[in-house]
Amino acid sequence: MKIEGRTFAISGGASGLGRALARSIVSSGGNVAILDLNPDVANPLIAELTPSRAIFIPCDVSSTDEIASAVSTIKEWISKTNYPLGGIIPAAGVGRPGLIIDKSLQPADMEGIDFLLSINLRGTLDLVRQLLPLVASTTPKDADGERGVVIMVASSAAFEGQMGQVAYAASKGAVASMTLPMARDLSRFGIRVVTIAPSMFDSAMTAVMPDKVRKGLEKAMEFPVRAGKPEEFASLAKQCIENPMLNGVVIRLDGATRMPSKL
Ligand SMILES: NC(=O)c1ccc[n+]([C@@H]2O[C@H](COP(=O)([O-])OP(=O)(O)OC[C@H]3O[C@@H](n4cnc5c(N)ncnc54)[C@H](O)[C@@H]3O)[C@@H](O)[C@H]2O)c1
Repeated sequence: MKIEGRTFAISGGASGLGRALARSIVSSGGNVAILDLNPDVANPLIAELTPSRAIFIPCDVSSTDEIASAVSTIKEWISKTNYPLGGIIPAAGVGRPGLIIDKSLQPADMEGIDFLLSINLRGTLDLVRQLLPLVASTTPKDADGERGVVIMVASSAAFEGQMGQVAYAASKGAVASMTLPMARDLSRFGIRVVTIAPSMFDSAMTAVMPDKVRKGLEKAMEFPVRAGKPEEFASLAKQCIENPMLNGVVIRLDGATRMPSKL
């Protein structure tokens, strides 16, 4: 599907992987709607991308009402730009490590688990669910009858979650598992679904990692021996938008890294 002339909604698009994709989409002639929490990070990005091409919509993806309001704003914006919604990229995510039960036999707190799942899993599903009617009601522009694409973000933790990653792995494993059934649900509308599962990538999420943990992760890497760059994520996501044969698949983007149990 061509990016030019279409709008793409990116949650968590103010930072990291989502931001790199937003830049790539705009430079390819598309518009972006950034749904995020943080105006201090989002507003300079909108200025950089130019306000006629990008819009920031404050939205907590764990709130169904806030997503509904964001959908209305996107609908209104699209009616002015005439760039139909061609893609949904739920990239908002949080990591909150915690052992299922610690050394003193204290079980992980349910509040933390609910918080993580409400963003990484529920927020992904809810955002996609509520935005899909905007994509499914567009007029296809090619012979395949393609209307759009959903690109979800899992993680290596979906396959090799480390110690302390039970909740995060649950959220990302669920996102990976949703990929094929969602593609099957959406094929009648000409909407594809692809999930990218990155290993460690440079972003705000990994910037807070202690040096010792980062060095330990580097030891587990094959090639290249470094964190991925957000632009490398954006490059694959762009291909996922443009290549109609990519559908119903989870693509690992990890330089052959397989996470060990602990570092
Ligand atoms: N960076 C990595 O190493 C890595 C690896 C695998 C998967 N991921 C996944 O990639 C995605 C993007 O992460 P990133 O590395 O770019 O991190 P990031 O922290 O740079 O960006 C995440 C963005 O999500 C936003 N966000 C958080 N909670 C939100 C909420 N409730 N509603 C709306 N927005 C919210 C944040 O404000 C931030 O802008 C996440 O789903 C993450 O789990 C990242």
